[in-house]
Amino acid sequence: MEHEGAWSSPRRGALSRALTSLRLLWLLVSPVRSHPDRVYRLLATDNNLGENTRFLNLGYWKTATTYDDACRALAHLLAERAGLGPGDEALDVGCGFGEQDVYFVDQFHPRSLHAINITAMQVDEARRRHQREGLSFAVQSATEIDDQDRYDVVLALESAFHFNTRADFFVRAHAALKPGGRLALADSVTAYDRLGWWSRLLQYFGNGLWQTPRQNLYGEATYRAHLEAAGFVDIVFEDISAHVFKPWKRYAQKRLEDPAVRDRVHPLLRSIWAKDHGAHDVHRYVIVTAKKPGPA
Ligand SMILES: C[S@@+](CC[C@H](N)C(=O)[O-])C[C@H]1O[C@@H](n2cnc3c(N)ncnc32)[C@H](O)[C@@H]1O
Repeated sequence: MEHEGAWSSPRRGALSRALTSLRLLWLLVSPVRSHPDRVYRLLATDNNLGENTRFLNLGYWKTATTYDDACRALAHLLAERAGLGPGDEALDVGCGFGEQDVYFVDQFHPRSLHAINITAMQVDEARRRHQREGLSFAVQSATEIDDQDRYDVVLALESAFHFNTRADFFVRAHAALKPGGRLALADSVTAYDRLGWWSRLLQYFGNGLWQTPRQNLYGEATYRAHLEAAGFVDIVFEDISAHVFKPWKRYAQKRLEDPAVRDRVHPLLRSIWAKDHGAHDVHRYVIVTAKKPGPA
């Protein structure tokens, strides 16, 4: 896979590198947490751990031994739990570079898959790299979905914690689903109110860097209540943390020993990814499924 602008490449220029660093640092400390598109624009195409893909999730490491395979395994688990299959009209929300979408189309054969993302640069790349019949990409925010009774399945792979807010997205997703339609998310939940000061501090910076709105920081009970308030039923939480956070961290540390990967990843991310700072200990990584009432 080509990487056009490795972090330390002379083509980037010292000024451009300094500006990117300043912008990332500003996001980290800024009280504003509602612009994930800014983070992903800054991270561009190089700040990922992919061998041959541009996936941007933590992966599911039950059997996988490479980053690409772990990301595909997470996408696979999500689609399986959603019951994605032939004949489905599906919506994927927060699709990154569209890696999961070609996987969904090739492995699960939905009739159509529309993938949306707030970050235009990623959508451009997805369109350039991935063409399949029935697959379309668009720049749109999760909280601006305005379809009614259109989809059998709505998916969000490690993106909903960014949405401003996640609860607003639930309302939009519910409206967009046909009666009997399924929602499935791979997501991170945090019982923020129960954190000690050190975890809160790490969280403050982490939520700044990843632009996670404060309103999205809650545990399973509130998550469930938001889904119910939007009209969903049959809500199931599956905790897969053991196969996500620690194995991902071990793999990231090893992968960053490769000079080519070190070279392309921004030093701030390198230092976060390479260290065991315990930030993940306060999260649970879950697959959440829910249904809009009605005949399946
Ligand atoms: C952690 S990345 C995951 C990307 C992809 N699902 C994957 O697994 O590779 C989160 C994605 O959510 C997108 N995103 C963030 N906020 C969004 C919003 N409000 N609406 C749509 N997409 C959003 C970001 O642009 C980014 O591509």
